Amino acid sequence: MSVKKCLFPVAGLGTRFLPVTKEIAKEMLPLVNRPIISYGVEEALSSGCGDIIMITGRAKNSIENYFDRSFELEDLLFRRGKKELYEMMLKISNMAEILYIRQREPLGLGHAVLCGEPVCKDDYFGVILPDDVFISDVPVLSQLIQVHDRLGGSVVALEVVEPEKISRYGVIAGVEEEPGIMKISDMVEKPKLEDAPSNYAIMGRYVLSPTIFSLLKQQHAGTGGEIQLTDALRNLLKYEPVHGVVYRGRRFDCGTQKGWLSANIQLALEDPVLRDVVLEVVNGK
Ligand code: G1P
Repeated sequence: MSVKKCLFPVAGLGTRFLPVTKEIAKEMLPLVNRPIISYGVEEALSSGCGDIIMITGRAKNSIENYFDRSFELEDLLFRRGKKELYEMMLKISNMAEILYIRQREPLGLGHAVLCGEPVCKDDYFGVILPDDVFISDVPVLSQLIQVHDRLGGSVVALEVVEPEKISRYGVIAGVEEEPGIMKISDMVEKPKLEDAPSNYAIMGRYVLSPTIFSLLKQQHAGTGGEIQLTDALRNLLKYEPVHGVVYRGRRFDCGTQKGWLSANIQLALEDPVLRDVVLEVVNGK
C-alpha cells in the first residue's frame, strides 16, 4: 500500500448531538462499548496507514486520553488479575502512532485538512471523517487506496443518495470509467436539489494529493461561511485527476442521532449476546 498517513478532522463541536456533546466529544460517543473514533482508527490501520494525524480542538482531550496509556487503571486491573481487560487497555494505547495538531479556529473541513500540511505535505494521504462509520468486508479507505494505486491521483468515496438527501453532501459530476469508478469532472458542496450535478454524493473517506494544500490556502470561504474541502478538490481537477469509488459496504452517519442509534442496533445484532437483548426489547418480552 502506497498511502501511509491518515488524517482525522475531529475538531467539530457536534452541535447535532447537543446536549450530550456539551461535555463529551462526539467522537467519544459509544458504539456498543467502543468510541466512534476507534472504528475509524482501526479502518486506517487495516488499510495500511500506520501514521495517524488527528486535527483536534480545545474540547477534545478525551480522544488523546483514550489512545494514551492509563498507568493507574492498568496497574489496578493487573493487580486484580483482570488479565483480559488489562490486555485490552494495553492494546488500545499501542494501536497506533498518533500525532495531534490543534485547529485553533472552526473554519471548516478544508481548513482542518490544511492544518495537517506540516506532516502530510510530501505524499498522498488518507482522510477519514469518523462520523461516517462503515461496516464492510474490505475497509473503505483501502478500497480507495487500491484505486489510487492503479489509476493515480486523488480518490473520494461515493454513494448514490436519494434526492431529498443530496443537499447534505458534496456532489460530483463525472462519467463511469469502470464499474463503480467515476472519473470526476466537477463537484459542488451541498447543492440545492435542482443544482445537483448527479446523485453521487461524497462520503467521509478520501485519498488526497499533497497539491491540495496550496489550493486550500487560496480557498475562500464557501457554503456555510467555511473553507470547504470540496471547493479545493474542484480546483484540483484543473491539474490532476480525481476519481470517485462507489464503496462496497454499509454506512452509518454517526454524526446524527438516527445514524448513531442505527449503528448501535446493527452492531448489537451482530453480537451473539446482545442480539437477544435487542430482539427481546423490540418484541416487548
Ligand atoms: C463533509 C463534506 C461533504 C461530504 C460529507 C460526508 O460535510 O464537506 O462534502 O459529503 O462530509 O459526510 P459535513 O458532513 O462535514 O457537513
